[in-house]
Amino acid sequence: MDVVIAPADEIGEIVADDIAALIEQRPDAVLGLATGSSPLRIYDSVAERVAQGRLTLARARGFMLDEYVGLPPGHPCRYSTVIDDEFVSRVDLVPGAVRGPNGDAADLTAACAEYEDAIREAGGVDLQILGIGTDGHIAFNEPGSSLASRTRVKTLTAQTREDNARFFGGDVEAVPYHCLTQGLGTIMDARRIVLVATGEAKAEAVAQLVEGAVSARWPATILQHHPRVTVFVDDAAASQLALADYYRHTQAHRHLVS
Ligand code: GLP
Repeated sequence: MDVVIAPADEIGEIVADDIAALIEQRPDAVLGLATGSSPLRIYDSVAERVAQGRLTLARARGFMLDEYVGLPPGHPCRYSTVIDDEFVSRVDLVPGAVRGPNGDAADLTAACAEYEDAIREAGGVDLQILGIGTDGHIAFNEPGSSLASRTRVKTLTAQTREDNARFFGGDVEAVPYHCLTQGLGTIMDARRIVLVATGEAKAEAVAQLVEGAVSARWPATILQHHPRVTVFVDDAAASQLALADYYRHTQAHRHLVS
């Protein structure tokens, strides 16, 4: 696991560089897209490059991580609407190139199975972008999630509903109780994973993710078993890392090894 401690406004540029390099190598790459505030700078930077003609996503495809249950198409808080507003509508992805689990399906279990099939048929995710919840969730895999889980229905914790109420006008009662989420096993199938966390509120979850014991109590810790993960954190999110100095030292001397 690589840990990169950098200012929040630089992280978006660094990850956008990675995405651009991937697309250059593989124009039809499959991106794993996260919602939430953490990836926004990445999306800004990618959108800027597309607007300037330096990057095209015309052949790329994307899969979202998760979706609330019960929000109809077009609902402003539905993750498919959010990802359209924040990313898809600002780049040159072709219509339909980004898919998400259908949290409005009559048969949610079937919708989850279809989503797993769609990811597999696309050849799997090349680069997965992740944020992390304050309770250590990735996507919506709350504490207690099976470390081998696949896309399924989950019940959100009270903490996550409170954290996400800011997107629902501050009204926690408006936040759905359930979601569909890629499982931890699904996420682990991605060929490369980039996780972004900024701010003091994420410091404990980041310390567990990087240095804690692998456990369903902190679901993000499963990423310790993935061979190609980079964790990008700002100083505040890195503030509980016992080995922060070592990660900084490693970064500073990175150019000395190939
Ligand atoms: C939600 C999403 C996660 C995201 C998390 C953190 O719960 N389902 O994918 O990582 O929020 O969000 P933020 O980046 O806004 O802190």
